[in-house]
Amino acid sequence: MSEITRTAVIGSPIEHSLSPTIHNHWFTKEQMKNHTYDKIEVELNNFSETIDSLNKQGCFGLNVTVPLKEVAYEKSDTLSENASQTKAVNTLWFKDGKIFGDNTDPVGFTKSLPDKVIEKKINSKNCLLLGAGGSSRAVLWSLTQLNANIAIYNRTEEKAENLLKTVGVNGKILKKEELDDYVSTSSFIVNTTSLGLQEGEVNDLINFENVRSDTYVYDLIYNPPLSSFLDQAKNKKLKTQNGLRMLVEQAAASFKIWHGVSPIVDEELMKKLGA
Ligand code: ATR
Repeated sequence: MSEITRTAVIGSPIEHSLSPTIHNHWFTKEQMKNHTYDKIEVELNNFSETIDSLNKQGCFGLNVTVPLKEVAYEKSDTLSENASQTKAVNTLWFKDGKIFGDNTDPVGFTKSLPDKVIEKKINSKNCLLLGAGGSSRAVLWSLTQLNANIAIYNRTEEKAENLLKTVGVNGKILKKEELDDYVSTSSFIVNTTSLGLQEGEVNDLINFENVRSDTYVYDLIYNPPLSSFLDQAKNKKLKTQNGLRMLVEQAAASFKIWHGVSPIVDEELMKKLGA
């Protein structure tokens, strides 16, 4: 009998992670019997020892989520271009005594977008990115590669400046009083802030009265599926998308890296995840 290939997602809190559901669905579909994918609660202060011990125990690869993506970047011996550019790692694997790190979030974001949206709403168009936290890096890098004219608004302006420096790309930083004008020129608006994750929390960063009727509105939040941000957009009859497809596409890219197989994203999987 061949050996078991062990993979897992690590982070904190990890209890509600959907990644095991996604990877286990694909193991079943691809008839990959000797593969496992678990979730392991790991905090910042025990990240390094945990990685070393999982490596010693023969773990094959790890997905890394909040708040460990930046330390995973530091810990990697070899980095992919997307990891170097975003200074974050969400996919690790162990090989020849070395730790390899990639970030599949930018690919996940790009692949989650319908081709028409990339062509008509993003390429050479004004795009507004809200937020400058950990999850904004992948979106900024992806939008840059898609040739968008990017403007960033974040409550703390300094963090938006740091975001541009970290990712090493160009963009305009907006002040609160400049938002209304930019909103009315944007064909793509993406929320990467955590506003709206908590029940009853309202994302009031922009005034939807100023959003154009042909603007595509994206929220990285997928739980709740209809965030307060997307709810306001839907009330204005705008086209919207939540972050569930990005979650699945980043998982698909990790799966391909580890197992050499491009898994199929089917309706059955999306239903399992509550789409
Ligand atoms: P994540 O890893 O999910 O991106 P994060 O790194 O903690 O989380 O970033 C949270 C983002 O949400 C930041 O852009 C934060 O803005 P600040 O940089 O000003 O803190 C934004 N955010 C969170 N709560 C917010 C609020 N009440 N109003 C405006 N922005 C908020």
